[in-house]
Parts: sequence; C-alpha cells; structure tokens
Amino acid sequence: MRGMVFDEGELGLVTDLSVRDPRPGEVTVAIQAAGVCHSDASVIDGTIPFPTPVVLGHEGAGIVVAVGDGVASVREGDHVVLSTLGNCGACGACDAGKPSHCRQSFGKLSRPFETDGRKAFAFANCGVFSEYTTVKATQAVPIDPSVPFEVASLIGCGVITGIGAVYNRAKVTHGQSVVVIGVGGIGLNVIQGCRLADGLPIIAVDTNPAKEELARLFGATHFIDASTTDVAEAVRELCPNGVDVAFECVGAPALIRQAIDLLDWGGTCVILGVPKIGTEASFVVHGLYNDKTIMGCRYGSARPHTDFPMIVDAYLAGRIKLDELVSRTYPLEGLPQSLADMEAGELARGVLDISAAV
Ligand SMILES: NC(=O)c1ccc[n+]([C@@H]2O[C@H](COP(=O)([O-])OP(=O)(O)OC[C@H]3O[C@@H](n4cnc5c(N)ncnc54)[C@H](O)[C@@H]3O)[C@@H](O)[C@H]2O)c1
Ligand SMILES: [Zn+2]
Ligand SMILES: [Zn+2]
Repeated sequence: MRGMVFDEGELGLVTDLSVRDPRPGEVTVAIQAAGVCHSDASVIDGTIPFPTPVVLGHEGAGIVVAVGDGVASVREGDHVVLSTLGNCGACGACDAGKPSHCRQSFGKLSRPFETDGRKAFAFANCGVFSEYTTVKATQAVPIDPSVPFEVASLIGCGVITGIGAVYNRAKVTHGQSVVVIGVGGIGLNVIQGCRLADGLPIIAVDTNPAKEELARLFGATHFIDASTTDVAEAVRELCPNGVDVAFECVGAPALIRQAIDLLDWGGTCVILGVPKIGTEASFVVHGLYNDKTIMGCRYGSARPHTDFPMIVDAYLAGRIKLDELVSRTYPLEGLPQSLADMEAGELARGVLDISAAV
C-alpha cells in the first residue's frame, strides 16, 4: 500500500508499506481522509522529536475493515474517526473519564507498519497518511455515516483540541472575555468553542491579516493583526482589566508570556501550542498573585467516545462549522504541498483525500 513516511530527514511516498493485522483489542481502518496538523510539520522540522521511520498523520477518518478478537465497540464497515489517545479503556484514569491521563495513552510508541524490511512507527498512535492503519479499538470512534470523511477527519485533532480546550479544560462560561492567539486549525476551533460557550468578546490575534475573515466566520468578535498592532494595547482597549481566558495556539514562549500578561484577576491561560521540546517560558510571579492560572492541555482533554459524537451531532444540527475548515484537498502524495500551503498561511486546514479501498 501507499503511505507518506518520514525517514532519515526526508519525507516521501512509499509504495511497499504494509500494516499488520489487528491483534486482540485492535482494529484495522481503511483511511478515507486525513487532515494535516501543524504537529505533523513539527516532526519534520524537529520540534517534536519522533523515532523513524514513521508514518505521519494523526487526524484521520475511515472505514473499519478488520477487527481483532474481543472487540465489541466497532464492527467491519463502521465509519470511524480516529483518536490519538491509545488509552487502555480499563485503568483508573479511563474509568474516571480522563483517557488522556491513561498511562497507555502517551509515549507507548506503536509500530504497526513495515517498509523495505524495517518496522515503521505510527505518529501519535495513528499514522493516517497511509491507506490502512491498525490501532487500538479504543481509538476508533464510530460516527454517523452521513458525515463526509474529509470533515470527519478534522474532528480527530484540530476540532477536538480546540473545542475540548474550551469545554473540558478552561470551561469557558457565558460572558467570559477571551483572547485566542494564533488562528490556525487549532485556534479556529477554540474560537468556535468559545462562540458555543457564549464567550464575549472573542478576540482573535494573528500575524497574518488574511486570517481575519476566517476568524470572524468562526465567531471572533474582534481581530488584532499582530504584525502591525501592539496586541497588549489593543486588548486593553477592549478589556481594560484584561481577559478571563487567553489561549496560546502557536507554540512560542513569547506568546505564552503575552497570554499570561493579558489576564484579568482570576484569569486562566491555556497553553495549546507545542514549542520545541525542552523550551522554557517565563512569567513575573507576582503577576499571578490575583488568583491567575496557567494550564497545559493535551488533545482538548478529550473523552473521544463522548466528545466526537457530540461534535458530529452539533455539526449535523448546524451548530459547529466543519465544512469551512477544509480549505483545500490534496492527494496523499500532495502532503509536501499541503505543508507548504499551511506554512504560507493559506489554509484553515488542508486535507488529504486517501479513499483506500474497502
Ligand atoms: N495541545 C495539543 O494537544 C495540540 C494538538 C494539535 C496541535 N497542537 C499545536 O498547536 C499549534 C498550532 O497548530 P495548528 O495546526 O493550528 O497550526 P497552523 O499552522 O494551522 O496555525 C498557526 C497560526 O499561528 C499564527 N501565528 C504564527 N506566529 C504568530 C504570532 N507571533 N502571533 C500570532 N499568530 C501567529 C499563524 O499565522 C497561523 O495562523 C502547533 O504548535 C501544534 O503543534 C497542539
Ligand atoms: Zn494535531
Ligand atoms: Zn487507561
């Protein structure tokens, strides 16, 4: 089969890729569509170190084509969105509804692929820039088959990370003022999560002025062009005491600092961006004195089997925008072009149309 593999510093299409059959508790999925997230680019540029060879891609949707022994949650033919949490489904954290805290969900590198006689890793437990992948059954979340695959795929990272950060982590409530720094695939979904939660105002910040239209479409009430405007000054004009919640959706220490400095008393800074491993950020300790909070957030603190169907229902009811996230589609081998278009700031999301045979 075909897949996009990163190996020895190079990204390329391989045609001799294979994936092993599902073991007990696993399923094999024929990938139909896969979104391109900045975290895939971060593996290539070394921001996120990952062993190689690795099949990239972690935002995918497809059709279950094989199930291992003991799998009762999905059947062959089910349409699924893949979660990146390879959680066990049985430990205390899973039982408590915190699958992103499951010790199996992070750092247990899955290696279901083979190419050129070598085993290959699946990035983020997924490896969806390939025609087929084998994942834990807990990762395959069945969805309504009426949802087009290219929009369904985006739920698997960008949408859940953004909306989950608002609902599960920051718990934004009616009338809270928010700033969203970085209007990419993640930031747009934070913005629409805040719109659903009735945050006000919702202030979007980006260095790319072309992002204003998208930001407003997804629910921003204001847009600050950080390439020409003093962000702190512009936010204080709108919210003189600072904001209740500031989301950093880029992954830069200076922006994390900026987000913290924008907080009102009692405010919360949510860090979603992923800078280079080992990066440190600083803040003035006294600045936090008035009950301020800094929080990390992995994968929207998601409960995929609860949150994904909820997002699908909201999409089908016209409450969440997913179609508008798909700026362009590419064939599988168009991944380098989609990464270049993302870097150029031209996309909400680029999506690879993979359409593997079932
Ligand atoms: N926490 C998580 O679980 C999680 C999940 C997925 C992605 N991420 C991370 O989130 C970050 C964003 O991912 P994405 O897919 O949305 O990326 P993206 O490339 O689609 O968007 C990034 C946006 O940030 C803007 N930007 C860059 N520099 C800026 C600055 N100085 N000020 C304001 N805006 C600026 C860009 O113009 C762009 O619009 C990445 O670091 C990614 O690795 C985290
Ligand atoms: Zn991602
Ligand atoms: Zn667990």
